Amino acid sequence: MGTSFPDTFEAIRIDLDDCHRCRLSDGRKNIVFGEGDPHARLVFVGEAPGFEEDQTGHPFVGAAGQLLTRIIQAIQLTRQQVYICNILKCRPPGNRNPMPDEIATCLPFLKRQIAIIKPDFICALGTFAAQTLLETNKPITKLRGRFHSYQGIKVLPTYHPAFLLRHEEKKREVWEDMQKLMQEMHG
Ligand code: URA
Ligand code: URA
Repeated sequence: MGTSFPDTFEAIRIDLDDCHRCRLSDGRKNIVFGEGDPHARLVFVGEAPGFEEDQTGHPFVGAAGQLLTRIIQAIQLTRQQVYICNILKCRPPGNRNPMPDEIATCLPFLKRQIAIIKPDFICALGTFAAQTLLETNKPITKLRGRFHSYQGIKVLPTYHPAFLLRHEEKKREVWEDMQKLMQEMHG
């Protein structure tokens, strides 16, 4: 066993470097690393950067991101008090779904980030975040609204904000999920 050093965000950024481990590097402008409080109790994990995120390098800054900001405010927190990241760090062309090999290639970096942050809670936004972290193929409708576990961290899946923009009628369920999250965090 060699001498071990504590992992850091900086070490992850250095390892990522100008990442070309998968095809998504072809079309990307920026790697979207994630941002927020490195000691956050709560981490939001989304799917992958979209157009605005790729352009700016920041997670959840487009229309879905503005809705996520409001969801965070609804649980009496700010974006600065949580950590926001994605399963994939590069934008899939045309915002297509992540492919299994892209997830497999990128996930180790997210796992390192979560291991550094050591949050108490993860809110998994949408199908890909929930299924990937929980290693299941169950649909988001079956997973959302209750706590699961990833590495001892309580994981609450809920609908993705981009899905909510198309299905306003699902906002009530997300609101109920966020009430459960607040209760578990503070109750
Ligand atoms: N959708 C996501 O899943 N992540 C982002 O960062 C933006 C939109
Ligand atoms: N389908 C998705 O991909 N995400 C959701 O949040 C809901 C349905």
